Amino acid sequence: MTERDDVLIVEDEPNVRELIRDVLERDGLEVHVAEDLAAASAFLERRVPSLVLLDVKLPDGDGLNFLDALREEGSVTPAIVITAFGTVDRAVQAMRAGASDFLVKPFDNERLRGAVAAALAAGRRLEEVAQCAGTIEESEVSRALIGASGGLADVVRLLRRVAALDATVLIQGESGTGKELVARALHDSSPRLDAPFVSIDCSAIAPTLIESELFGFERGAFTGAHAQKKGLIESANGGTLFLDEIGDMPLDAQSRLLRVLQEREITRVGGRAPVAVDVRVVAATHRDMPQLVESGGFRLDLFHRLNVVPIRLPPLRERRQDIPGLVDHFLAKHASHHGLDAPALDDATLARLSSHAWPGNVRELENFVERAVILGAFDFSAWAAHTPKRTAPIEEAPADEPEPAVQTIRQAVRAAERKAVVHALRHAGGNKAAAARMLGISYKTLFNKIHEHDIKEDVRID
Ligand SMILES: Nc1ncnc2c1ncn2[C@@H]1O[C@H](COP(=O)(O)OP(=O)(O)OP(=O)(O)O)[C@@H](O)[C@H]1O
Ligand SMILES: [Mg+2]
Repeated sequence: MTERDDVLIVEDEPNVRELIRDVLERDGLEVHVAEDLAAASAFLERRVPSLVLLDVKLPDGDGLNFLDALREEGSVTPAIVITAFGTVDRAVQAMRAGASDFLVKPFDNERLRGAVAAALAAGRRLEEVAQCAGTIEESEVSRALIGASGGLADVVRLLRRVAALDATVLIQGESGTGKELVARALHDSSPRLDAPFVSIDCSAIAPTLIESELFGFERGAFTGAHAQKKGLIESANGGTLFLDEIGDMPLDAQSRLLRVLQEREITRVGGRAPVAVDVRVVAATHRDMPQLVESGGFRLDLFHRLNVVPIRLPPLRERRQDIPGLVDHFLAKHASHHGLDAPALDDATLARLSSHAWPGNVRELENFVERAVILGAFDFSAWAAHTPKRTAPIEEAPADEPEPAVQTIRQAVRAAERKAVVHALRHAGGNKAAAARMLGISYKTLFNKIHEHDIKEDVRID
């Protein structure tokens, strides 16, 4: 038999303490107790337990601050926080301090046992990774993200702290700020790195298909369901489920997703028996979630479930100090990708790039730099003209008619936009997702633009 798991219970109420001790000892765990933070500190100096159960209100201080300090010192021991007050704020605070779960007094024995078992399993996974891959430290997170020591320093600090835990993360930021990159970095520096990272673009799946895509279906569940199929959630088992553009998920699917997060099991469409799934959920959106919740487009309870650890990615214009590093990075990346020399980058060019507004954020900057690599020089000619915001309504103008001698700015912009969309679609071989990436717009925006400009005839689209 391997060494027995041991648990430190930090709780000042003797009744609660003894009750927990009883339940856990019956499960075969070795139990230690501390009645205040001083006793807990003294214990932790001598020994590292497999798990800490930590009360929030203790005679000599606050359990969350204590956990905070432990994490600052680099402790990765899983911790479950116990409190008498079950507010969402408290839960969020606990998760932020690095807790893996949160129990509200009074809790039943099953809830306690479930939380302890899950935290111990997560701890074991973490240990395995630490043994074969060294420590998690800054590792992948800072390597993958340019700006880790600049404008993204706060983000990276938070990422490093939560990567090892199973806590659900909600990444919010404008389009092109690097949400997907952050989600991947989180997975790559977590104990789940060898398991799948499954990314789902909730805005790209047809609403009618979203449930069968996510949850899978049983044979005969609907016409055409000839064989049983695993859903995307099930295929992420053991790994990370990345729910991209979560704000665009239809309400029906939101209710079912909420159940998955609560029960940690799924039921395939047309299926009876639930299937247990073990996934770490990371969600992302460019939408204003509180506003979306307020307008009834998103369930409040699901938002709270997802928003355990909120990460806000600042727009590029709020962290201009990162621009030179990003430009260097993208010059090298695309020069090597295309087998070309990177164009010269003088101070004036860099200054211009650094002062630009970049409404499309890092993705727009990357596209701009890639174009410079292909052209062999930075081309600012497009910046000279006044370009209205992408979202501004564009007047109808027959796109295929010969261009009039004099165009209004709107007509000119519209024609240019159509050209860019067609060009990107051709370049991407008709793949809309890839084309949207090249254009620096969302899949949905591209989808609308294809319809708006009636582009179907000009290019084959997948
Ligand atoms: N900090 C960064 N360091 C290096 N590359 C970055 C950084 N941030 C973003 N990128 C690059 O910029 C591009 C856009 O990033 P990403 O796809 O993650 O953005 P996003 O926030 O998911 O955008 P959207 O909301 O449009 O889906 C990617 O090619 C990504 O690799
Ligand atoms: Mg994205």
